[in-house]
Amino acid sequence: MIILGINETSHDASVSLIKDGQILFAGHAERYSKQKNDWYNNDKIIIDALSYAIPTHIAYYEKPQLKRSRLILKGGAGDWKPKIPISLPVKYFKHHYSHAAAGYYTSSFNDAVIVVLDSIGEYNTSTIWVGEGNKIKLKYKQNYPVSFGLFYSAFTQLVGLKPNEEEYIFMGMAAYGDANKYYNKVRDYFPEHNKQKYNFHKGITDWGWVTEQDKFDIAAAVQKVYELRLMEFMKMARTITGKTELVFMGGCALNCSANTMLWDIFDDVWIMPNPGDAGSSLGAAAALYGKHIEWKTPYLGHNLGGEYPINEIITNLIRDKVVAVASGRAEYGPRALGNRSILADPRDPDIKDKVNLIKQREMFRPFAPVVLEEYADKWFDMDFDSPYMQYAVKCLQPEKIPSVVHKDGTSRVQTINKNQHPGLYGVLSNWHALTGVPVLLNTSLNIKGQPLLNDKLDIEKWQKQYNFPILS
Ligand SMILES: [Fe+2]
Repeated sequence: MIILGINETSHDASVSLIKDGQILFAGHAERYSKQKNDWYNNDKIIIDALSYAIPTHIAYYEKPQLKRSRLILKGGAGDWKPKIPISLPVKYFKHHYSHAAAGYYTSSFNDAVIVVLDSIGEYNTSTIWVGEGNKIKLKYKQNYPVSFGLFYSAFTQLVGLKPNEEEYIFMGMAAYGDANKYYNKVRDYFPEHNKQKYNFHKGITDWGWVTEQDKFDIAAAVQKVYELRLMEFMKMARTITGKTELVFMGGCALNCSANTMLWDIFDDVWIMPNPGDAGSSLGAAAALYGKHIEWKTPYLGHNLGGEYPINEIITNLIRDKVVAVASGRAEYGPRALGNRSILADPRDPDIKDKVNLIKQREMFRPFAPVVLEEYADKWFDMDFDSPYMQYAVKCLQPEKIPSVVHKDGTSRVQTINKNQHPGLYGVLSNWHALTGVPVLLNTSLNIKGQPLLNDKLDIEKWQKQYNFPILS
């Protein structure tokens, strides 16, 4: 059984291909079309996926007619009608079920609670499921317009950022704000997990003038209220299911500051590295397969080939303190985890400004560290692994690596071991031997607001345009 999973018609179209429980390909449409958050797939990504195998079945991540009815009856943004690229029978799965399947079937769990929180599926916005063996069963649902994701997105839009795209910037702003200033006001918009002031899809229209500092204070208050409601919801999920292992999916699972708190409630946590809608092409394919699929790696996209240039990276890091690398298969998920990355010396306090200039980002934006797994707990307050940069934790030696510590003293950590990425592990090991520091700055290889670089043509264009070499 070779299944082509498809997700499109809202932000973050993607394609996945699985064969007998093995993932052959999983990639993002935007990396091929160069349209950030592209709504639709394109010929290039379909051809890339089909170069691995010709599918026998197609799985789609939503129920189009159900979504259409919601758009007609309740409104909201988005299209509903997919353009299926190959003439094969299509099996359609509900939006939240695709999220749940993407998480549970890639996990190592056989008995877990699955929580899905996003802006909106067809109607569902918050669901709790139980995964037992091969079965996934719905236990609780909450419908539009009450929505964790729409709450967060509406405030993202209020401060002038793009909803459904720049929530991660809004989250980063929270560290610069005073949460108490607007806490009561923001809490009144979302007083209980199943109660909200109004339909956030329409935006927040009753706030009034917002100054520059207000934006940071609002971000801090929104993050605080979100965390409070999230913890209530997660405790409820544990209580009603009795499960101690959590699978968390949906766009809300990208909130790395809040994710860390999940370890206080559950014994083990799995967040598939692509928990938003872009991960649901894999979810739909897994749902049709109906069993666990083998999760080995997030490096599942376009293949540049090549050996990881360990020695060149080290030479350039010592000389220039910053290096760009594009090698092997692209990451499936929003984070660059070494194959489409800019790596830099985290000890230099000026490197943050330098990399922000290269990427043309706001200067307040923080950068994340990658650390050798065996040293993670000496440098960061964590007793779990974080191979996909999903958790923000306190940095224990901020004075030694100032360029990867956020204003609030936390870092969004990527831990690395030899099995996950022998090349990147080799770079970190050599760097550690030379400097005594097992940490590097790791950020995505792209310019602000543009998709990550994908193929050889992208690399050539970048090198010409920015006169900045990329090792590959
Ligand atoms: Fe979703």
